[in-house]
Amino acid sequence: MREKVRVLISEEEVEAKIREIAAVISHEYEGKSVHLVCVLKGGVFFTCELAKRITVPVSLDFMSVSSYGDDTKSSGVVKIVKDLDEPLEGKDVLVVEDIIDSGRTLSYLLENLKSRNPASLRLCTLLDKPERRVRPVKVDYCCFEIPDEFVVGYGLDYAQKYRNLPFVGAVELD
Ligand code: IMP
Ligand code: MG
Repeated sequence: MREKVRVLISEEEVEAKIREIAAVISHEYEGKSVHLVCVLKGGVFFTCELAKRITVPVSLDFMSVSSYGDDTKSSGVVKIVKDLDEPLEGKDVLVVEDIIDSGRTLSYLLENLKSRNPASLRLCTLLDKPERRVRPVKVDYCCFEIPDEFVVGYGLDYAQKYRNLPFVGAVELD
């Protein structure tokens, strides 16, 4: 089966929105440092673009998680494949994700990170598919709400392909 990718959010639109969100974050964290926790692999492109535009001091750490279950239905049980290098105690932590879908991954992850006693814990996502939510997740910063379509690009993959596309595209199977 061959798939096509249709542009959903252009490179220019994504960049403009990231600038806007970075300005809001810079304002709200004024006088503090922000510790970005990037959720690999999908969050990596967004994290870099966002971090470059935040004007308060930034530190970075990375985490990789996978959900048990098949590819289309995650069970809600999340396995930490790569944990953070540093403790979160006392830090103003901002989790950076590519997309919130069912919310299962993030509701687990946020509980886990909260137990490490950060000074504050917030969530920033490039994309949100609110229609698909089965677990409530408080999203503090969201670049784009999108309809229930499978998307790729800007870090997001379809069978590990298309992460490097500089725009967000919808996958169409023919
Ligand atoms: P959740 O636990 O259902 O919220 O799963 C979120 C994860 O599923 C994301 O971090 C992505 O890795 C993946 N995902 C959800 N929707 C899409 C999509 O449209 N394209 C690519 N990956 C997706
Ligand atoms: Mg992800």
